[in-house]
Amino acid sequence: MGQLDGRTAVVTGGSAGIGLAAAKRFAADGAHVYVTGRRTPELEAAVAEIGPLATPFRGDVSEIVELDRLAATITAAGERIDVLLANAGGGSFRTLEDVTEEHFDQIFRTNVRGLVFTVQKMLPLLVDGASVILTGSTAAFTGNPAFGVYGASKGAVHAIARVWANELSGRRIRVNTLAPGYIETPGLLAGAGDEQAKERARGRLSAGVPLGRLGRAEEAADAAMFLAGDQSTFMTGAELVVDGGESRRR
Ligand SMILES: NC(=O)c1ccc[n+]([C@@H]2O[C@H](COP(=O)([O-])OP(=O)(O)OC[C@H]3O[C@@H](n4cnc5c(N)ncnc54)[C@H](OP(=O)(O)O)[C@@H]3O)[C@@H](O)[C@H]2O)c1
Repeated sequence: MGQLDGRTAVVTGGSAGIGLAAAKRFAADGAHVYVTGRRTPELEAAVAEIGPLATPFRGDVSEIVELDRLAATITAAGERIDVLLANAGGGSFRTLEDVTEEHFDQIFRTNVRGLVFTVQKMLPLLVDGASVILTGSTAAFTGNPAFGVYGASKGAVHAIARVWANELSGRRIRVNTLAPGYIETPGLLAGAGDEQAKERARGRLSAGVPLGRLGRAEEAADAAMFLAGDQSTFMTGAELVVDGGESRRR
């Protein structure tokens, strides 16, 4: 018996990185998992990796019509949502003088707008007592140079989770934020360059982590599983930090 047996989960950005690891974790515990992402090959590979309990949904969370289509797909299957991990997001990193309108709009469009409307569009499908998990970031409360716009977008996520925890309490829907630090995913080192440059980036980032290494996606997924399941039923409006101590260093 898995902890999520018979339950339905939705993981946006579930085709890579933290989302993929969480989708695998939820499915391993018995959930039927809708996995979303924009790129078809990555999505197909992810679903093959997760196994028969995964259903792919290709779509961009920043496009409202695609979120409507996701809600319609789940409704047509006769399902309600027990666990929603609003995780699709990411960004690039620029110091203030290099910030452009495109950089700002791209990050806020996915990380904030996409997340807000993901939860709004799924809201009618959430069961009473559902667990909503928003992927925030320790960048919401650290001050690493070049993380300004990205950190601001994640600060918005953390803020809105606190509000929704109150707004949705009447339906016993819990809303918590998962706050990863440096987790090794395709997204984290995407801009680093070749393998040697990636290795240097790993070393640089790890140096600031008390535990001395980057986190694994599975470690973030374990925390997501804790928030998704019955071990966290008295938690709402909380921030669960998974960062090897990095955000507590200074
Ligand atoms: N890795 C870290 O160190 C770290 C730390 C703190 C917070 N986070 C946060 O954790 C989340 C996952 O990050 P990650 O590192 O696992 O990223 P990743 O490896 O780049 O994976 C991102 C996932 O999101 C999907 N995605 C991106 N934009 C999307 C959109 N507009 N619509 C639908 N799907 C979209 C990607 O698929 P497609 O590209 O095919 O759409 C992919 O499945 C993000 O919110 C990120 O900000 C990560």
